[in-house]
Parts: sequence; structure tokens; C-alpha cells
Amino acid sequence: MAFVSNEEINNIRANADIVSIIGSYLPLTQRGKNYVCVCPFHDDHSPSMSVSSEKQIYKCFACGATGNVFTFVSEYENVPFIEAVAIVANKCGMTLSEQTYKSNITQNFKEEYEIMQLAQKFFMNNLRTDVGQEALAYLKKRGINDEIIKEFGIGLSLDSNDSLYSLLRKKGYDEKRLNDLGLINLKDDKAFDMFTRRITFPLWDKDGNIVGFSARVYRNEKDVAKYMNSRESKIFKKGETLYNYHNAKDVAKREKQIIVVEGFMDAIRLSSVGIKNVVALQGTAMTQEQINLLKKLRVKVILCLDNDNAGLLATVNNGEELIKNNVLTYVIRINGEKDPDEYIIANGKEAFMQNLREPLKFFDFKMNYLKQNKDLNNLSDLTTYINDVIKDLASNNDPILRELTLAKLSEEYNVSLDILKSKLNDLNPVKIEKVVDKAPKEVIKKDSYIIGAEKIIYFMLNGEEYIREYQKKLGFFTDSLYREIANEIVYFFENNHQKITVADFITYVSTKDSIRDKVMEIVNESINDPIDLETMDEYIVAVLKQMTKNEIQRLKKLMKEELDVDKKMKLAIQIAELKKEEV
Ligand code: UTP
Ligand code: MN
Repeated sequence: MAFVSNEEINNIRANADIVSIIGSYLPLTQRGKNYVCVCPFHDDHSPSMSVSSEKQIYKCFACGATGNVFTFVSEYENVPFIEAVAIVANKCGMTLSEQTYKSNITQNFKEEYEIMQLAQKFFMNNLRTDVGQEALAYLKKRGINDEIIKEFGIGLSLDSNDSLYSLLRKKGYDEKRLNDLGLINLKDDKAFDMFTRRITFPLWDKDGNIVGFSARVYRNEKDVAKYMNSRESKIFKKGETLYNYHNAKDVAKREKQIIVVEGFMDAIRLSSVGIKNVVALQGTAMTQEQINLLKKLRVKVILCLDNDNAGLLATVNNGEELIKNNVLTYVIRINGEKDPDEYIIANGKEAFMQNLREPLKFFDFKMNYLKQNKDLNNLSDLTTYINDVIKDLASNNDPILRELTLAKLSEEYNVSLDILKSKLNDLNPVKIEKVVDKAPKEVIKKDSYIIGAEKIIYFMLNGEEYIREYQKKLGFFTDSLYREIANEIVYFFENNHQKITVADFITYVSTKDSIRDKVMEIVNESINDPIDLETMDEYIVAVLKQMTKNEIQRLKKLMKEELDVDKKMKLAIQIAELKKEEV
């Protein structure tokens, strides 16, 4: 990536004081060595953001926002990273060279996007011609008017199975490429359009580039899938897209909440009645990448999935994942109709808005869910229910919620509070209180390996001696995310004249989607920690211990499954060796 070796960008950062740049947007108050302000990235009422002049980074201990001067400007002004670099340069009387600017905006997939745009124009145009009348009538019947058609770029693929193919061939694009993009199918040296006789809906990536299509049948056709989707390509990764995200994200930030629905027809319906902060999963499953996109908005997430069993189960599962990711999660369950689209058609916008005003907190939804199909007058059902609630509480971070829930259970069902408490304590994993001056009473649960690994990574960002210590005494992590981050740190260090600062490393990872969020989280959690080699060594010992433990577990399992006596013996010896190391 250009950023690492880009001395110009690092130089601009070195010349831009984060305190005065952030101070040009927001009033800052000095507090000791640092400055504080009201965090602009969440609904903040008292100053939760702290800006470090020494480290040249900011962090919010309420919402977790972290970064350097460039990420601040990029997030605040809602502009791409390189745009933010140019703004910062400007603010301190420098100019970003044309060359660096250009080399960072060149879109990797410019031509791919162009091809998709051509296909999109073609589909949209078809809907406006005579052959489009039947499809248009279908859309109208579903209450989709011209305005919505335009806004969502709805189009039509034709009956003939080579019309898009011929058009794009005439423009000079080769078959292989069109095939890779999922616009055509190559079979026995013959090419066919991927989509025929379907209403087309463009799919966008998070930045609004068209990366694929989903297409719906509109005639009475038997034995065909209702929707057909583009296959994955280098620009289209289904699990990384949330339908309508690029339209919804700004409104969601303004309204401080985002609604998540299953189907894109639901998203289109909500949007068409003016509820624009909505995205669709395109099914019931929610991936980690989708969670990351939602998390980035730092707003409430309201799950509003279909009114069927699959939708209910998905609400439970997705909600739990969101909670694990520290996302404030709420639930709306609609009644009487199959999905939000049909609900709004049947009951109108105001009825939906009424639901939206009173969403259930995920925990309350979950409690109701646990009660379902149980007769709480039946002792065995009641026991199961109470145990389920406690199990759920054990993974919840809020001590007040725990306290209140236990008290309520005790009173409602006449069980001693002490028993409930001791049960919860048995289940509860290790807790570590976050030590920050004004932090919300947040309790995070991490095991010693994770804590150690994250601290070690943080130490490595603080200079050569810590990187050397890691190389000398540890050298790798067993799990891939931490390993990748550590490798990136070493790579950055080697390619940056053996120098490293937290702030410059943040520039470097700003475009690396896979590790950026984790790095920011680690920095946010550790930035106030004192730095010394002795402490780092303690973490290294803890991590090594845990890695040995895990390795012993792995070998034991192998040994159990091994039938060959000699091999079994060898494994036993290996285990014994490791156990010696352990003490
Ligand atoms: P639904 O069957 O709930 O679709 O599937 P829907 O939104 O109600 O669609 P309409 O109202 O009948 O037009 C939800 C989502 O699952 C995916 C689509 O992304 C759809 O939006 N899906 C569904 C498919 O990919 N293929 C299918 O055959 C069906
Ligand atoms: Mn529907």
C-alpha cells in the first residue's frame, strides 16, 4: 500500500498538530496533558473524547472512536482518507502533491464499475420501452412508482439471452471479464446473459459502486428461483454488502439509529415512505463484515426481520452477535403480515412508526423469547426459564441490568436472591474492569491470552525495543488476526526506516479493512497504559503459557483419536515435553 512508504503523508501528519486541527472543528478544554471535547461521533452530552498531544491521537471512551488526525477529518467531514490528508495539509499551509493524491484515488476496479454502469443503464432503459410494460405493471401493482424505480435503479433484463452480451461485446469488453463479473455465463464456448426476463435491482458496495444485481421473476413462472443474484466476483462479496448502506449511512448517523430488514423489497418500501435509515441483509444471516459496517456508524441498531420462525430465530442469533460486538441493539417484531413491506402496505406508515417509537431492548426481547412455549406454572418449565435467563445474564456486560433482573426473578418466582447470585457467579467468565478515569461502568470479558496478545501488540506500536522484544521472546501468535497485525507492525517498521509511532501506524492501517478496527480497539483500550519492557515480558509469559496449554489440548485430542501405537507414543512424549515447559 502506498501509505506506508509515503513520506509525504507521514510528513504532513508530523507537521499537523492534532490538537489544533480538532480544535478548529470543536471547542477543546485542556485537562492535564490531554485535551477533552464532546465526541462528535456519538450522541454525547459530556466530554468523552480525549485528544493526546503527545501521542497525536484521539480516543472516545464512551463509543470507542479512535484514530489520528486524518481519520478524524475523514470521519468528521465524511470524506475519503486521501481527501482528509489534503484537507489537513491545507489547514497547516502545505499542499498534498498531485502525484500522491492521484495514486491514492485511482480506483482499483474502475473499468469493472464502468461495465456494471453500462449494464445498469441498459436494464433501466429496457423498463421504459414497450417490452417493459408488463414488468412496469407488476411494479405498479406492488406500489412501486416511478420515483422509487428511479431512486433504486430498478430495471429489466430481456427475453433474448444474448442482448446484454452483444451490447458489451460491441463496446469491446472480452467474454472472460464479463463472465467473471457474473453478467454472462460461458458454457461450451457459448455465452448467455446471466439474467433474462427478470426485474433487476442493482446492488451497491458500501461506497455506492454498483457491484452486482439481484433479479426477480415477475411473470407466473414455475420452477425458477424467485430471486437470482450475481455470483461473487472481485468486486462483489455478498457477505460484505448491506443493501442500501451507502444511502442509509448519513441519515442513520443523523437519526442515531438504523433499521435492519431481511429483504431489499422491505428496505425499498421503508425508504419509499420516508424511512431512509434502513438496510437489508438479503436473507436472514448476518456476517461479521456486516456487523462491522453497522458498528462503524456507532448508532442504535433496530432489527426488524420477517414475521416467521426463521425471522424470529435470526433475530435472536443476530442480536446476540451484535451484543457481543458491543452494538446497542433493539428489536421490532411486526404482527399480522409477513414482512415490513407488506405490513406497511396493509397498515400504513404511521402504524410502522408507532412500532419504531417503542422498540424492545434486545435483552427484553430475549427474555420474552425464552418464555415462549413454556408454562411458568410448571416447575420444570420455570426452572429451565430461570436457568436460561441466568445463562444470558452471564454474557451481559451491564452490572445494573444483572442486579435488576436477578431481583425481579427472585421476587416474581420466589427464589432466593442468594441462590440466583451464586448461580450467576458460577457461570460468569473472568471480568476485568476497564480502568479509565471517566469510563462508563463497562465490563469486558477477555481471557488471559487475548488480553496478553492485545497488550503485546500495543507495546509493539511504541518503538523498536518493543518490536525486538516480541521478535526475540515470542515471534508469532497462534491465532491469525493477532499474527497478521503483528506481522504488519514489523513490516511497517522495516519499511519506515525502522521507526514507528501509533499515529503513523494508524495511517497505514486506515485502508486495511481486515485489521483496522481491531488495531483501533487495541489502541483505544491501552493508550493510557504505562510502557515498559518488564510489563511486556509478563504479558509474553502469560501468552506463551496459554499457547502451550492450547497445544497440549490439541495433541491430547490427536492422541485420543490415534490408533497406531507408535504414533500414540510419540504424541505422549511430545505432551510430556510441553508439560515440562509449562511449569
Ligand atoms: P423473501 O422471500 O422474504 O423476499 O426473501 P421478499 O423481500 O419478501 O421479496 P418479495 O416481496 O417476494 O419480492 C428475503 C431475501 O432473501 C433473498 C433476497 O435477497 C430477498 O430479498 N432471496 C429470496 C434470494 O436470494 N433468493 C430467493 O429465491 C428468495
Ligand atoms: Mn416481501
